[in-house]
Amino acid sequence: MDNAAKMSLNGQEFELPVVVGTENEIGLDISRFRGESGAITLDSGYANTGSCLSSICFIDGEKGILRYRGYPIEQLAQRATFSEVSYLLMNGELPTATENAQFRDGLTYHSMLHEDMKKFFEGFRHTSHPMAILSAMISTMSTYYPEVEEDDIERNIIRLMAKAKTVAAFAYKKSIGHPFVYPKNELSYSANFLHMMFSVPTESYDVDPILEDALNVLLILHADHEQNCSTSTVRMVGSSGANLYASVAAGVSALWGPLHGGANQKVIEMLEQIRDDEGDLQKYVDRAKDKDDPFRLFGFGHRVYKNFDPRATILREQCKKVLDRLGVDDPLLGIAQQLEKIALEDEYFVKRNLYPNVDFYSGIIYRAMGIPTKMFTVMFALGRLPGWIAHWKELREDPKGRINRPRQIYTGYQERDYVPLAER
Ligand code: CMC
Repeated sequence: MDNAAKMSLNGQEFELPVVVGTENEIGLDISRFRGESGAITLDSGYANTGSCLSSICFIDGEKGILRYRGYPIEQLAQRATFSEVSYLLMNGELPTATENAQFRDGLTYHSMLHEDMKKFFEGFRHTSHPMAILSAMISTMSTYYPEVEEDDIERNIIRLMAKAKTVAAFAYKKSIGHPFVYPKNELSYSANFLHMMFSVPTESYDVDPILEDALNVLLILHADHEQNCSTSTVRMVGSSGANLYASVAAGVSALWGPLHGGANQKVIEMLEQIRDDEGDLQKYVDRAKDKDDPFRLFGFGHRVYKNFDPRATILREQCKKVLDRLGVDDPLLGIAQQLEKIALEDEYFVKRNLYPNVDFYSGIIYRAMGIPTKMFTVMFALGRLPGWIAHWKELREDPKGRINRPRQIYTGYQERDYVPLAER
């Protein structure tokens, strides 16, 4: 392949270096183009813009491939633990037995929140969305664990991973007016979270291994997804030199939106709406197709996957398995399956390659696990944490890293004179 592409503008030709990735992905390096030609490239929603070189995650959207550091998502979901996958994403290699034990210990022993941090929860309204609490509390961690020396970074990474699940569980307890439950050191990451969510002082609670396994898989499936909206946000904020907590708190906010991680909450609300509407599925499919109606089928479509979302394929199976193992009969699963069938046969969805995405089935599993709908996006955030951290680290360690600062094409007024208030 030529190592330069040519672009011509106003009769002048410009050479654009070609960058080829390890999976033969091709990029044209336009970083010098403006300096040479005076023109920028315009790409609404960054749909065709590569913002960095990255060795963390590979996606082939046409073939439905997702790999973390080269390992297929199917293998990791079936055989790994979330803490192993987190280590892999953040450090580049799977941990040895000793590294794994040390890392798990770190995630365990840093799980407690500083007692003073508990007081912040008193100030939140009990109806607060847990994503708001998560973002605020992660930002607040920077006041307790500032990054003063280089060594603090690794410690803060472990603290963030370990404490985020405690914050998430406390946010839930706050919403139902129950006392906070402290973490237990003998439990795994997933089991510890479930213990903090569901233990009550009045009776004993043993974590069901079915729930622990299901949560492990869910967290792994969400752990990274290259330059998605929230990860790009973390990188954007981090590129200014902002600390880990500030950057990740911004990622939480980006994830909250219904077009991104917030879709898992929206899917369940949509399925409940269909159920309450006597199961009239076609009405909702028709609404989603109607360009005058803002309604969309949540849990369908993806910017990158144009064939199928491999995470959704795993989750569809996982969903049936978990519901069977728990003996849960959820009518929403039947509605979801019918909706998927109708949509996949409908020309509108077929033509636009709109398939179920990761958010379509995850909510049904969370429901079966007893996790309330408002907590679904928080679950996504807990899973995505190692990915955000890995990207923040990669950016930080890149000697060629620059502040992220896109350009624009201005479409406002040209220069005009100020008119004093009295004359307007
Ligand atoms: N329902 C109905 N129509 C849709 C949907 C949908 N869920 N998704 C896309 N379309 C249509 C869209 O109207 C457009 O049609 P046309 O070409 O006629 O204008 C076409 O499909 C392309 O859509 P787009 O909005 O240009 O695609 P995008 O890449 O900008 O957006 C998306 C991707 C995921 C935001 C979008 O598919 C969507 O809004 N889906 C519903 C929300 C959702 O499930 N989000 C979770 C994504 S997966 C988890 C994550 O990583 O965030």
